[in-house]
Amino acid sequence: MEGKLATRNISPGTRVYGEKIVRLESGEYRIWDLFRSKLAGALKKGLRGLEIVPGAKVLYLGAATGTTPSHVSDIIGEEGELYCVEFAQRSMRELIAVCEKRPNMFPIHADANNPEEYKDVGEVDVVYMDVSQPNQSEILIKNCYAFLKKGGIAYLCVKSQSIDVTLPPRQVFEIVKKQLARDFTVEQEYELAPYDLDHLFLALRRKD
Ligand SMILES: C[S@@+](CC[C@H](N)C(=O)[O-])C[C@H]1O[C@@H](n2cnc3c(N)ncnc32)[C@H](O)[C@@H]1O
Repeated sequence: MEGKLATRNISPGTRVYGEKIVRLESGEYRIWDLFRSKLAGALKKGLRGLEIVPGAKVLYLGAATGTTPSHVSDIIGEEGELYCVEFAQRSMRELIAVCEKRPNMFPIHADANNPEEYKDVGEVDVVYMDVSQPNQSEILIKNCYAFLKKGGIAYLCVKSQSIDVTLPPRQVFEIVKKQLARDFTVEQEYELAPYDLDHLFLALRRKD
């Protein structure tokens, strides 16, 4: 397990995406694949002070089939709450199956452009967003105003090609940071290569 990332499985005996499982005296651990999860890639690239911690309440936009959300669910543990928004029907089916085995994970079939559809989530400690959409800055801002506590942190995955295929990735990253500058302070940023090419991972502090 040396040099690898892993999370302690809160649903022992179950896998989510074919990941390796290691059993130690302290519990069962799921190896976190750096090439399948941008959060794992960001941690490997140096992301510090992760605010996804035991007991945290997290809103996750773009949960897909639950790969990264399942590791977030392991980290926040049974005291935490993880609300997973996904709009693709096909991904949703698999996501629901993952949530059924994890008591802290709640699926929400909705479009992240419309936070009023899931307003019952209430205030959260962390917003995590990975939707690969051209208007993702706008989506992030409205969700953070609706749910993120004052001074809370948002983690954003930026895929340059989803925003503008004609521009070099670093130029796209600068445009995105400018769009967010009024509402957030960029505290940390990591390009995710070699784990994900042309992706930037941002840790953003909500300004108030
Ligand atoms: C790159 S995948 C997410 C992968 C996932 N975060 C992980 O690491 O396991 C992006 C997901 O965002 C979803 N998505 C894109 N736009 C969305 C929107 N407006 N509302 C909800 N989900 C959206 C897509 O259907 C897709 O499943």
